[in-house]
Order: sequence, then C-alpha cells, then structure tokens
Amino acid sequence: MKNQLVQQTKRAFQHHFGDPPESIFLSPGRINIIGEHVDYNDGFVLPAAIDRYICIAITERKDSDICRIIAHDFNDFYEFTISDEMIKAPSVWVNYLLGVVDEINNTGKKLKGLDMVFSGNIPMGSGLSSSAALECGFAYALNNVFNLNFTKEEIVLIGQKAENNFVGVNCGVMDQFASVFGKDDKVVMVNCDSLEYEYFDAKLEDYSLILFDSCIKHTHLTSGYNDRREEVEEGKRIIRNHFPEMVTFRDCSREMLNAVKDELSDKVYKRCLYVIEEIRRVEDAARSLAGKDYEKLGRLLTETHHGLSKEYEVSCPEIDFLVDETLKLEGVAGSRMMGGGFGGCSVNLIKTNDVRQVIDKVKNQYKKAYDIEMNVYEVKISDGTHQYKENEYSI
Ligand code: GLA
Repeated sequence: MKNQLVQQTKRAFQHHFGDPPESIFLSPGRINIIGEHVDYNDGFVLPAAIDRYICIAITERKDSDICRIIAHDFNDFYEFTISDEMIKAPSVWVNYLLGVVDEINNTGKKLKGLDMVFSGNIPMGSGLSSSAALECGFAYALNNVFNLNFTKEEIVLIGQKAENNFVGVNCGVMDQFASVFGKDDKVVMVNCDSLEYEYFDAKLEDYSLILFDSCIKHTHLTSGYNDRREEVEEGKRIIRNHFPEMVTFRDCSREMLNAVKDELSDKVYKRCLYVIEEIRRVEDAARSLAGKDYEKLGRLLTETHHGLSKEYEVSCPEIDFLVDETLKLEGVAGSRMMGGGFGGCSVNLIKTNDVRQVIDKVKNQYKKAYDIEMNVYEVKISDGTHQYKENEYSI
C-alpha cells in the first residue's frame, strides 16, 4: 500500500514537472488509544502513528522563490511566492501548507522555491489526522530540503501552530506529535504540557485494535471543537479563583470541582468533570497496558466514550450507535469514539478471534439503521514522519 502511494506520487510529479522528484517523504495519520480532548487540557495522551500516509514528492528550485504545489487527490494546483506575506487561500488544503511556511518564516529561517506533489491514503474527515500528517510532512520535508535544523519537537510545534494560527483550529499537540514521533509497534504516552514522552509496547497479544468509520465527515473548523476549548477554559478560571494553588487540571480533584459547582453552568461543569476523569483514566490505561490487562483497558475505553458522549458532548448519534452495537458482542473488551469527534471513527479493542464476527454484525446493523456502509480499517502501528528511501521495506 505504501509503495503504491509512493509510486503514484512520483509518477504525478514526473508528469507535471518533467523530472523525477529529488526527495520523497511519508507522514502518517494516527490513532489514539485513550486521552481524548485532554491534550489542550493539561493531560496525557496515548496515540500511535499508523500505516496510512501523506506522501510528499519535492524538488528545490534553486533559481526561484516560486512554489508550485499539486494536490494530486484533489486534482488541484496552487502557486505562491515563498518570500511574500502568507495570505489565507480559499482552499483549506492550501492553508495547512501556507500556515507551515508562515511559521517557518516567523523563525527567520530562509526558504526557497520548490515544486511539490502530494497524495495520501489517510481517509479524510475520519478523525485519523490527515491534516496533521500534511502539516508535519511538509515541515519535515522543508527542514530536510533546506537544511533548517529544526528538531522533531520543533517540527511538531510548527505543525500545531500552523493549524492554530493560520487554519484557525485551536487543536492541541497530540496529532502532530503522534505523526512525527510514531514508532513501529509502539504507542507513545505524551505529557502534553512538557512534551516529555514514553513508548509502550503496542503488541496486544490476543487482542486487536480495529477502527469502524461511521463515514460521517467532519471538520473542526465548523464542529464545536473551538467552543469546547473556551468552555473548559472558563471552568478552569472559575475553579482557580477558589483554589489558586491549582495550576493545571491535573491538580484538580472532583471534590474541588464540586465545591464550585454552583458557579458553573451545567455545561461547563460537565466539560470539566470529563477532563478530570479522563486525565485519571489515561494513567490507569497506561498501567493496564504495561500490565497487559486488556480487559481493564477496554473498560476504560468504554468509560471514555460515555464521557465524550454525555459530558463533553462531542460524539454523534451514528458513532454512539456503533459503540452501543459493538459493546453488545462477544469478544469486545471496549469501544469508543476516537479523535476530535462529531463524526469519524470508533476505536475498538476486540479479541482477535472474534474480529470477523464483530465486523460483520456491526456493519449489518449500521446499514439497517442508517443505510450507510461502514468502513473498517485494520491499521498497523508504524513509524512516524520520515524520508522514503527506494529500498524501504513495505507491503
Ligand atoms: C483533534 C485535535 C487534537 C485532539 C483531538 C481530541 O484530533 O487535533 O489536538 O484535541 O481532537 O483528543
């Protein structure tokens, strides 16, 4: 699958620009085991990069400041001058790239013109972070091609800031971090405040992680994502008025939250309750993963879903349906919506022997209830953003 994507991107480059590209980069999407909507709430997250990528074929233009970019999958083209001030374009895909250029220009490092084609096999709008893969893949490629000497952490932050400042989605750092720092067969536990991280073995013995795509597409430019951020910030401000010793949500207990309940709207109370509980669940989940207690891990995933659906209110009826139907079945340890929500995928921890029957039954029920063909992704946990070498092993 990876080779096919690379060959297709290379061919498109040669077709449009006449020569083969000088270099090729691959930047993956991500899954998240647990730790949802806490990356911007002082929490820990437990994501992993997957074997679905944005592929970038690129050649430096030594004689020019012009960038010519082809989005192969959208059959679209955009040209801009790298030394100009970056101004928002009408197409969202362009803004991910201009945002990255803008952030790099702000550091004072020098970029030059380039020719580029990109293409991908990460389903878009499904909560698998195709946008973070594009931002980080582009930043990583520019770093290499123009010898900018950014660290991997800096590339992650350039990607996140591009999305915050230029695209206008106030996302946390999880997706970009997972895309860049992903490792074969490992999930990475990230402290989203300090960016310290630790890898955990993701070989789940008799269990598999399977994604069910509701095919309800979303974009966080118009979902309630930015509103959620404002709601929890309001809650945090009020709690801190009473407990000035509280620096982050990690220092906040349920008792503290309950002590200020009267001053919070019902909505803000529920949002904060979710955050406090989810921060605790991620710590429990990391222990379960390390202790290979997959049934416990599954129960935590399911608790997270309940919180996301009822307290944080970022699920949707279709995903709730998928989760409910999945949890009824033999061999399912846990199920929950994944990513920012308002559509996208559920992530399911299922005994490997039962995966087929679970897929068949849930597909069937979903089709009956919503007349939608659910997509299923059996992803492999893989390495993060990297330069592709011709002899790279892949299937
Ligand atoms: C989106 C954002 C992330 C994170 C998740 C929810 O994917 O980009 O930063 O907040 O939602 O966990």
